[in-house]
Amino acid sequence: MTAPAAAASQAPTRPILSLRGISKNFGAVAALTEVDLDVAAGEVVAIVGDNGAGKSTLVKVLSGVHRADTGTVTFADREVTVASPADAHALGIATVFQDLALCENLNVIQNLFLGREVRRGRLDEVTMEIRSWELLRQLSAKIPTVRVPVASLSGGQRQTVAIARSLLGDPKVIILDEPTAALGVAQTAEVLNLIERLRDRGLGVIMISHNMEDVRAVADRVAVLRLGRNNGVFDAEAPTEEIVAAMIGASDNAVSRRASQRRREPREPREQSQPGEQSQPGEPRTPRQRKEEE
Ligand SMILES: Nc1ncnc2c1ncn2[C@@H]1O[C@H](COP(=O)(O)OP(=O)(O)OP(=O)(O)O)[C@@H](O)[C@H]1O
Ligand SMILES: [Mg+2]
Repeated sequence: MTAPAAAASQAPTRPILSLRGISKNFGAVAALTEVDLDVAAGEVVAIVGDNGAGKSTLVKVLSGVHRADTGTVTFADREVTVASPADAHALGIATVFQDLALCENLNVIQNLFLGREVRRGRLDEVTMEIRSWELLRQLSAKIPTVRVPVASLSGGQRQTVAIARSLLGDPKVIILDEPTAALGVAQTAEVLNLIERLRDRGLGVIMISHNMEDVRAVADRVAVLRLGRNNGVFDAEAPTEEIVAAMIGASDNAVSRRASQRRREPREPREQSQPGEQSQPGEPRTPRQRKEEE
């Protein structure tokens, strides 16, 4: 891990967004400790890590939901304070949270312009509809009509609407929390294409994901968090096993052993314990128990 981490730890061009030494405690829980992160314009950086690694906390610090205890945020060469979601919005940092926060009963246009409706005396529905189509066309979004309630859209289409909404503020950086977590294969591909278009538009994209396939498909660099700390930054070409090892904190672990064992002997029954793996005699363990023991 150390070699690729050292080689890839800097963004390829000057970063639009840099975090240095970000720490955040919740009482006795150190959710983030001295975390650094760089994102350049036109770059997709994936943040990966096990449950509780601090990914969502980092997103919330960047989007002004939580305030970091220590550390600095530099945006467009200026040290900034992101004390509220309004601060993040004003700077040009947009976040699409995992729950998307769309209103099911409202249509696409109403969702896009919720809280920032265009008015000329009364609601200017024509302008909003034209701008909705323009935005969706720029994203090559596959949405048949903007007048249907969001409730009737697919998961991928909803994700697209949520991303389109965040683009209305003309952000420089967009943060996507688990954008493909709830999606099927075709919809995932659609959203990954959309992420590439965001990059092509010159945005810095931060993508939180559990799915290594999706990460490898679009990310330029992969930043690993483990127990609230940086644990390596990898090029997208780095072997998945290396990234997973950084996520769970060991290069020799049950996951990598099983993966290499399966490559060698694809038909080997999985119940056989691997050398070095501790097992309680006579007691089969659930995957959860195995995880806890590791
Ligand atoms: N509001 C909070 N109050 C107290 N502890 C919190 C709070 N938010 C997060 N934590 C703790 O901080 C640590 C990091 O949590 P966080 O949600 O950032 O992890 P994560 O990487 O997003 O995990 P997951 O993959 O499960 O979403 C965890 O130990 C969590 O319990
Ligand atoms: Mg989370």
